[in-house]
Amino acid sequence: MPTALITGCSSGFGLETARLFLDRGWDVVATMRKPREDVLPASDRLKVLALDVTDAASIERAVADAGAIDVLVNNAGIGWLNPLEGTPIPTAREIFETNTLGTMAMTQAGIPQMRERGSGVIVNVTSTVTLKPLHLLSVYTASKAAVNAFTECLALELEPFGVRARIVLPGRAPETRFGDNARARMTAGIPEAYADIAQGVFASWAQDSLVTRPLDVAEGVWRAATDPNCPMHLPAGADAVAQAAALQ
Ligand SMILES: NC(=O)c1ccc[n+]([C@@H]2O[C@H](COP(=O)([O-])OP(=O)(O)OC[C@H]3O[C@@H](n4cnc5c(N)ncnc54)[C@H](OP(=O)(O)O)[C@@H]3O)[C@@H](O)[C@H]2O)c1
Repeated sequence: MPTALITGCSSGFGLETARLFLDRGWDVVATMRKPREDVLPASDRLKVLALDVTDAASIERAVADAGAIDVLVNNAGIGWLNPLEGTPIPTAREIFETNTLGTMAMTQAGIPQMRERGSGVIVNVTSTVTLKPLHLLSVYTASKAAVNAFTECLALELEPFGVRARIVLPGRAPETRFGDNARARMTAGIPEAYADIAQGVFASWAQDSLVTRPLDVAEGVWRAATDPNCPMHLPAGADAVAQAAALQ
C-alpha cells in the first residue's frame, strides 16, 4: 500500500486526513509536535512520529524514520488575526517559519526519494484567504500566498521527474483548534484603532451559512493525492467552493 506522511496530525484537518487515508487502506505516517497514539485508531499501518516543521533536525529524523513516502501532505500551520500594526515582527517570522518555510523544508526533505523513484505527490494545504484580500489577515495570507506561488513553480520543477504538486485551499473551519491556537498567541489583542473593523469581521463570520468541515479537507487532500487530473488549486469546503466560483 502507498504511504502518506501528514504534518500537523494532533488535531483538525491533519487528524481527519490521517483517519481518512487509514480508512482507505493506506499506510499513514501521522506526525505531530507532541506524538499521541490515542487520537487515531490503532493500526499496524499507522506510524506516529514526532515532527516540528520549524526544526531541521526533527525534519531529518522524521523523514528518515518514515521510510518510503508516496504522498507528503504539508498541513501543519498556525493562524494569526491581526493587522500588520498589531503584529510584532518576531510573530510574523514565527508564522512564516511554520506556514511557509516549514512547508518548503519538509518538501525539500521529501523530494529526493520521490525524484529517484519517479513518482510521488506533494499536497500543500493553504487557504481561501489567498483568493482575495481580507481585513486582519495581511501576514497570515502572505504566508499562505507564498506557499501557493512556491507550489505552482514546484509543480513545474518536479513534473519532469514524475512528481506532482497540488494545493488544497480550505475555507473557514470553526470546528478545528485553529482559532483557539491563534487566540492563545494573540495575548496583546487587536490594536484599539482596528476594534470596529474586527467587530465587523466577527459579525460577518457569525452570519456565515457555509463553512468548511475537516472531512471536506481530508477529501480534498485525498483527491489531490490520488487523482492525476486534480486541478492545481482545489478549494475544499462549501464556503471555499462558493468563494472560488464567485471569483471565476
Ligand atoms: N481552520 C481554518 O479555518 C483553516 C482555514 C484554511 C486553512 N487552514 C490551514 O489548515 C491547516 C490545518 O489547520 P487546522 O484548522 O486543522 O488547525 P489546528 O487544529 O490548529 O491544527 C494545526 C496543526 O498544525 C500543527 N502545528 C503547528 N505548528 C507546528 C509545527 N511547528 N510543526 C508541526 N506541526 C505544527 C498543530 O500541532 P500542535 O498541536 O503541536 O500545535 C496542529 O496539529 C493549517 O495549515 C491552517 O493554516 C485552516
